Amino acid sequence: MAFIPGTLVCCLSVSPIVMLGCVIVFSLVWASRNRKSASTAPGPFPWPLIGNLASLGKKPHEYLTQLRAKYGDVFQITMGSTPTIVLNGLKTIRSAMIKQAEDFAGRPDFYSFKFIANGNSMGFGDFGPRWKMHRRIAQNSLALFTNKRNNPIEMAIASEADVLTSNLIASDGAPFNPHNEIYLSVGNIICALCFGKRYQRDDEDFTHLIKMNDEFMAFAGAGNPVDIMPWMRHFTKGSFKKFIGILDTMNKFSLKKRQEHLDTYDASQMRDITDALIKATHDIPEEEKEAVGLTNEHILTTVQELIGAGFDTIASSLQWSVLFMATHPDVQEAAHAEIREKVGLRQISFDDIENLPYIEACLFETMRHSCIFPFALPHSTTRDTVLDGHFIRANTLVFVNLWSVNRDPEVFNNPNKFDPSRFLDSQGNVDKTMTDMFLPFGAGRRKCPGEQLARMELFMFFASMIQKCLFKTIPGKKPVIDSKYGLTLKPLDFQVAVSVRQ
Ligand code: HEM
Repeated sequence: MAFIPGTLVCCLSVSPIVMLGCVIVFSLVWASRNRKSASTAPGPFPWPLIGNLASLGKKPHEYLTQLRAKYGDVFQITMGSTPTIVLNGLKTIRSAMIKQAEDFAGRPDFYSFKFIANGNSMGFGDFGPRWKMHRRIAQNSLALFTNKRNNPIEMAIASEADVLTSNLIASDGAPFNPHNEIYLSVGNIICALCFGKRYQRDDEDFTHLIKMNDEFMAFAGAGNPVDIMPWMRHFTKGSFKKFIGILDTMNKFSLKKRQEHLDTYDASQMRDITDALIKATHDIPEEEKEAVGLTNEHILTTVQELIGAGFDTIASSLQWSVLFMATHPDVQEAAHAEIREKVGLRQISFDDIENLPYIEACLFETMRHSCIFPFALPHSTTRDTVLDGHFIRANTLVFVNLWSVNRDPEVFNNPNKFDPSRFLDSQGNVDKTMTDMFLPFGAGRRKCPGEQLARMELFMFFASMIQKCLFKTIPGKKPVIDSKYGLTLKPLDFQVAVSVRQ
């Protein structure tokens, strides 16, 4: 302790070079003290101001997975000036998320999170009584439209899948990037669910919303400069302003929809999630909401995050599935043969999932291989805790390295290979022990509330595409199977040739 002020006093009477040296020594000592006070976990040495940022590279999930071999399942890095715990491997992640669920259920107090959903977000909001009530409302509203058998959203997905496959086939074998068609179809399902409305492909509001959501995901990755190095705000004003602009557009779109719903609301007829949320504002007594600090604005804004969370995730997973099918023709043929045999040409329903294990295995493998959320969403500790023998202080930033689980060679033989059969048992049924070996929707308190909807959409869109379309790579131009890093891992832009299945 005495060393630091003493060093600074000395510096005042010596040359600038020595002074600079003293500042560096001070920063190094400060960084290492800061680091030690956050946890006792091992990890690489952090540089002043930038910590370990310079080493992360363009694929932080791959770099941090490599560090696991050296430092173990719980290690510490420093993101800018923020000490960060990285959790690796299924066993440790399960222990933290499930056995010590409340200890790890927090969200960091990131600068950018204050602007998402006007600071009223549930998904980016910290753990506590307000979050618990907010999460229950969001979950119940979603369940109302997605959990029942033969629900209206299943029919909406079936007819949107028809539009999607027809539009893909219309490209008639010419080099074609399926991104927009997939995004518009999936966007239409979340809009049907949230606002009870399906949009035309060329609707200006709708296409703008979809573009904005795409840009939001690119900006909101784990490791945003303004979040981990708050002083960077002064240097990144332009891009942060753009981020605020994106959020503003998303806000305006849902505010317009909210007003239309309030004007025509009828408590006896729940048309969609916006109605269900309006109902929740009426049904939950004011004292109960006040006691936890939840306002009607929090509740009504939930629709924005369901749109944000519920469509880029599914759309990028479907994009990955098309890319994997085009580049693995043998897998695509086996998937198509299963549908031809078990379903034929009739429309796919969600019940078909019971009879299409290979299709389901293709989806599990797509989720494992693409790993769209390599770090889930950033977590933080809610109290001082100990994990795998390492002390971790309250309010420490935590990255849940799901990539380390999906690509663990101890669990998945030849993990870099796309191979759906790893999820089938010797009878050709989906092998539950293998599907339990990874956590595409996270685990514990923060587990994705949209899992049921996601599974239904992924299955119905994917099975319909495989039933009707044949995806091929462009001769002489095999697509690169690689991702761009943001909040989600999306495939690099690619083109395929789509033709109709005879
Ligand atoms: C392929 C599709 C999807 C995947 C792989 C996925 C995965 C995830 C993951 C990994 C998390 C973070 C868990 C954590 O922080 O530990 C998450 C959170 C969340 N997801 Fe999903 N998700 C998908 C689709 C959806 C859909 C369709 C919705 C809603 C319509 C949704 C709504 C949410 C929300 C609101 C959260 C925040 C939960 C909270 O903080 O309590 N997701 N999801």
